Amino acid sequence: MIRNEVTDVIASRRSIRKYTGRKVTDEELETILECGTLAPSGMNTQGWFVSAVRDPALLKEMSALQKEAVLAMPDLPPVMLERAKDPAFDATFGAPVVLIVTADASRGSGDACLLGENMVLAAQSLGLGTCISGSITMAFQGEKGRSLLKKLGVPEGNVPVFGITLGEAAEAPEAKPREKKYTIV
Ligand SMILES: Cc1cc2nc3c(=O)[nH]c(=O)nc-3n(C[C@H](O)[C@H](O)[C@H](O)COP(=O)(O)O)c2cc1C
Repeated sequence: MIRNEVTDVIASRRSIRKYTGRKVTDEELETILECGTLAPSGMNTQGWFVSAVRDPALLKEMSALQKEAVLAMPDLPPVMLERAKDPAFDATFGAPVVLIVTADASRGSGDACLLGENMVLAAQSLGLGTCISGSITMAFQGEKGRSLLKKLGVPEGNVPVFGITLGEAAEAPEAKPREKKYTIV
C-alpha cells in the first residue's frame, strides 16, 4: 500500500470504546461536521442530517433508552442483554459526544454512510477516537425514542442510521483482521 497522510489515517483508525474525560472542542467538532458534509451524495441531494449530542442529560437519556429497548428484546445475543442489565454499562461508552447520523427516509442510507465515514476519518486525523454504533439507534424506538429524536433536532421524516461515539481515546486496540474481499479483473 502506498503510505501518505490520508492512507495512514485510514490504516490507523480503530473502533474506540473507552474515552478520557477530555472535552471535544468546538473547533474540532465543527471541523468533523464540515468534513462530513463534504462527502459525495447522489445528485448532491445530501440526504443526511447529523445531530452532535454533547448535553450530558441527553447522552444519559440515550443510553438509558437503548438499554430499555435491548431488555425488551430477549432474543438478542446474551452479551447485549447482560450489558443492558449492568447499571454501570453506558451504551455511549462514556464518550463526550455522540453524532447521531440520520437519513432522509426517501433517499436511503447511502449518503449518510459516506458522511459518517468522512467524519470518522476526520476525527482520526485530529487525534480523536470514534466508534460507529448501530445498536445506539435502538434508543429511538417507540414514543420516548421519537421524542428524544425531536429533542436532538432531527427533522421529521429522517431515520437514524447509526451513532458515532467521539472523544479522546483511552484505549489503543490492535487492528482487527480483514479478509481480502476484492478482486481486480
Ligand atoms: C454499521 C456498523 C455498526 C456498528 N455497530 C456497533 C455497535 O453497535 N457496537 C459496537 O461496539 N461496535 C459497532 N461497530 C464497530 C465494529 O464492531 C467495528 O468496526 C469492527 O469490529 C471492526 O473493528 P475496527 O473498527 O476497530 O476496525 C459497528 C460498525 C459498523 C460499520
